[in-house]
Amino acid sequence: MSVDLKDRVCVVTGSARSIGLGLAQMYCELGAKVSMIDINPEVLKQAKRLEAEGYTVLGDVVDITDQKAVLRCFEKIVKDLGKVFCLANVAGYVSQQPFEKITPEEIDKVIRVNLNGTIYCCQAALKSMKNFGDGRIINFSSKSGKTGSAIMASYSAGKGAIIALTQAMAYEFADQNIKVNCVCPGIVEDSGVWSSVSRGYVENMEMSMDDVVKKFTAKVPLGRLCRIEDVVTFCRFLTLDGDYCTGQAFNITGGREMH
Ligand SMILES: NC(=O)c1ccc[n+]([C@@H]2O[C@H](COP(=O)([O-])OP(=O)(O)OC[C@H]3O[C@@H](n4cnc5c(N)ncnc54)[C@H](O)[C@@H]3O)[C@@H](O)[C@H]2O)c1
Repeated sequence: MSVDLKDRVCVVTGSARSIGLGLAQMYCELGAKVSMIDINPEVLKQAKRLEAEGYTVLGDVVDITDQKAVLRCFEKIVKDLGKVFCLANVAGYVSQQPFEKITPEEIDKVIRVNLNGTIYCCQAALKSMKNFGDGRIINFSSKSGKTGSAIMASYSAGKGAIIALTQAMAYEFADQNIKVNCVCPGIVEDSGVWSSVSRGYVENMEMSMDDVVKKFTAKVPLGRLCRIEDVVTFCRFLTLDGDYCTGQAFNITGGREMH
């Protein structure tokens, strides 16, 4: 039976724009109380916009790599909205560097945002999810977390780690009925990550933007890039109807990744 999200609390990190914003909007429309977290203050504007449309939304500017700030933010969420039912760890950071030129600073940043940040948010959310009888965590890996991408070695490694993290957590919290899964999107049109990665390919491969888009679209059996709504629709399913799914890494790649 589908979960009724009415008045349940859903937290979405990285929700100032792109996929995270799409997810926050979807949870609002399903009647949830929504917490939007991002390091970018634009999240406050987006939260206010949704609030003005009549939804219950809390916006917070938080750097998810700051564990203490994350804990404080989740204490506030529980106080203002209630116990967390669903956490979508969308916030991420992509870096493109030829492997031999990867700097310690970039490795640290990629791992701190994608992996440490996800762990800190899970730990903080679990404080109110445990002993609640049900819960959902959706982590964001990538197609690059299953099959690594050239000139994106640290990002690929960080996203691969998210899959193992998801599996470990799924085992650890199954007895609390908390389902922990991750999604592995392919290239998502109109998103921050693709905007940055496609510019990187234009520079590194000396190709025009049109040719970059054509090259990567040609790799997708379904013949088009992923759309934000493809990811949102899948996360909606996981939240509402994924009651018997845990520890999975779901491809949303139009068939480009099949394992
Ligand atoms: N877009 C794609 O093609 C694609 C493909 C596969 C996986 N993903 C993953 O999906 C997720 C969303 O992708 P997107 O394209 O919507 O990303 P995006 O860059 O558009 O948005 C990510 C958001 O995370 C926020 N963020 C970054 N660092 C943060 C920090 N330290 N603390 C708090 N917030 C922080 C950013 O401010 C931004 O608003 C990411 O985890 C990404 O790695 C994206």
